Amino acid sequence: MLSPSYPVLTERLLLRPITEQDIDPMLEYKSREDVVRFVPYKPLSREEITERVAGIWSRTELNEPGQAICLAVEERATGRLIGDVVLFWHSAEHRSGEIGYIFSPAVSGQGYATEAAAALLRLGFEDLGLHRIVARLDERNTASARVAERLGMRQEARLVRSEWFKEQWSTGLIYAMLDEEWVRSAWR
Ligand SMILES: CC(C)(COP(=O)(O)OP(=O)(O)OC[C@H]1O[C@@H](n2cnc3c(N)ncnc32)[C@H](O)[C@@H]1OP(=O)(O)O)[C@@H](O)C(=O)NCCC(=O)NCCS
Repeated sequence: MLSPSYPVLTERLLLRPITEQDIDPMLEYKSREDVVRFVPYKPLSREEITERVAGIWSRTELNEPGQAICLAVEERATGRLIGDVVLFWHSAEHRSGEIGYIFSPAVSGQGYATEAAAALLRLGFEDLGLHRIVARLDERNTASARVAERLGMRQEARLVRSEWFKEQWSTGLIYAMLDEEWVRSAWR
């Protein structure tokens, strides 16, 4: 069970539940072919974002495995929405989960995705009590791999041309971190 007290603050960012006010700023990056190239959906329309904001992105706590919380990420200095992140709870028995992240190209190269993902690891390990958290990505998504590596996640698997993804074979990488690694992490 995870019921964070919002907002979740980091040095430069604020993570909070997604609201209707986020639809337009989200549309700016989630409607872009280049931004969603390696995420499991096509460029989203305003209607599709609106539907998700009212539906799967409205969850604010995790009550059982199989659920995920998506959070908006704001830049504290300006209050603008710069991206969003997701924490999946996969299994109670194995205490396993997964993180994901997508940010506006307008803020790339400042370490914001890494800082927000570190906050998700903290929620997963320290508040939900997970034992292992993974990040799964396409090998061509080198910026995402660098985020996982900066977080101190280890590459555990390279699944060669394993998934038919957006009309091409995708080679998947699995990065992971254990709770005992998290306690030694500089991001903690
Ligand atoms: C994946 C994604 C979030 C990475 O964005 P990013 O801007 O490269 O990542 P960060 O915000 O963590 O910034 C890291 C960069 O900022 C630099 N940086 C500057 N200031 C920094 C700081 N204070 N702290 C950390 N890094 C800093 C780092 O050196 C790094 O640059 P490098 O990758 O060239 O070495 C982004 O490319 C994206 O949203 N892609 C589309 C969606 C997607 O594919 N999501 C992942 C699916 S698996």
